[in-house]
Amino acid sequence: MADDSTPSFALTAGGPFRTRSDVLVLFTDESPKPAAPLDAVDRALDGKLLRAAREEGFRGKADQTFVFHTHGRLSAERIVVAGLGPAAQRDGEALRQAAGRGVKTAQRLRAKTVTLAVPAVNGAAAVQAVAEGAALGAYQFDRYRTNGRDERVDLQSVRLLLPEGVDRTRVAEQALAAALRVAGAANFARTLVNEPAAHLTPEKLAEEAAAVGKTHRLQVKVSGPKELKRLRMGMFSAVGQGSTNGPRLIELAYRPKKTADQRRQPVALVGKAITFDSGGLSLKTAEGMADMKTDMAGSAAVLGAMSVVATLAPPFPVIGYLGAAENMPSGEAYRPGDVLISRLGKTVEVTNTDAEGRLVLGDVLSYAVEQKPSAVIDLATLTGACVVALGLWMGGAFSNDDALAEEVLTAARRAGESFWRMPLIELQKETLRSEVADMKNAGDRWGGAITAAVFLKEFVGQTPWVHLDIAGTSQAMRERGYQSKGATGVGVRTLVEFLKGRATRDG
Ligand code: BES
Ligand code: MN
Ligand code: ZN
Repeated sequence: MADDSTPSFALTAGGPFRTRSDVLVLFTDESPKPAAPLDAVDRALDGKLLRAAREEGFRGKADQTFVFHTHGRLSAERIVVAGLGPAAQRDGEALRQAAGRGVKTAQRLRAKTVTLAVPAVNGAAAVQAVAEGAALGAYQFDRYRTNGRDERVDLQSVRLLLPEGVDRTRVAEQALAAALRVAGAANFARTLVNEPAAHLTPEKLAEEAAAVGKTHRLQVKVSGPKELKRLRMGMFSAVGQGSTNGPRLIELAYRPKKTADQRRQPVALVGKAITFDSGGLSLKTAEGMADMKTDMAGSAAVLGAMSVVATLAPPFPVIGYLGAAENMPSGEAYRPGDVLISRLGKTVEVTNTDAEGRLVLGDVLSYAVEQKPSAVIDLATLTGACVVALGLWMGGAFSNDDALAEEVLTAARRAGESFWRMPLIELQKETLRSEVADMKNAGDRWGGAITAAVFLKEFVGQTPWVHLDIAGTSQAMRERGYQSKGATGVGVRTLVEFLKGRATRDG
């Protein structure tokens, strides 16, 4: 499921006056003196570019862009100046966001070719940030839009203009390749999430995983409804039993080449893959259900990350687990009051069939832990309460291990994804106390994101574990920087950065 039209990317050198493209994107922060090559381009235009920008209120802020028509005075037809925000806060993420915005602006101007001038700071890291932002920004999900299809202009080529005096080195080429890999994986995840639930059933997700496994040399194993029962995954099975689209447990395994490395403890990545969450018999409202095709975003992130793991070639195994089911009401659906027996043996009284994610993940987590991983990271659109707590721009991170939590949060910061550590409060378990089973699957409203995390914690034992609740950040409500409205692909970049960090540490 490649995304529909990806432009080609290449590095160029030789300054801003020789690049022939429809749009030239130049970056500037909020400091009054423009940096190269914006200063030179402005001089070539007799200072008209920056004067016009200033007159229009452009200040280099992080959400600002300014469009200027060169009327043939430059080899580029139009210039887009993209703001980076305050000079002091300039980091890779500021550059990614501005590059994404620059490309989106170029697309709106119906450009076929765009050149982005890489700033002369941070060397290859700047190349990587600009390329990532541009590749993420170019993403569009328009396969189901037929009106105006003939008039649509697709962006065909993106060039990254290296700073003056910098040549196309191997390091720069590698930075570009790495950027395109990770952005490609994130865009793949976005497409999986954007795809309607009628198309992306658990079975179809398993096919996607099989295709990923084939292309990227991973072992893929798929277990259907019968096998799930045989695996005694009573919670997972129950969630899936109400739908004609039966559940699937999807496992993807990367094994390193060296035998010694193969024997190392694996890293386990677990994703919630509810391909549609109607709430089940505890049915959601129309409003609450509208976006629930996206309830598999956690597994999309895991599948995206697994698609690049072979190229990263870490010296330890990595196993991805996708717990896929469709949560539907029907004559065969699981009911409030049912008591489920988990793989771990703990029994759970269902009080709300809409708290289905933790049931699926509980069984998958305890299964993953059986392989004695050195770390387990799960990603899930788990609770509306997490969205209430942290909003739409920040995910929640819960962990039973401070060192692992730090490692994941550091990776996220590097990748430009936002997570905030949340507490696992043992007392919160009281709200899950049941009269008939070991616990209930849902408690009262208060601290709902913590309750869900505390529920999951019951199934990981002593294994170092991080749970990322991405209910708020898996989707963007509006366009921003490299994000378009819709799926964000959140988690892919954090997981990739985490695996890279571990590979360096353990290599
Ligand atoms: N998939 C939802 C959580 C969700 C809500 C994701 C909004 C994205 C946006 C999850 O399965 C769910 O329904 N959670 C319930 C739990 C409750 C019944 C204890 C919730 O958050 O309301
Ligand atoms: Mn639900
Ligand atoms: Zn759900």
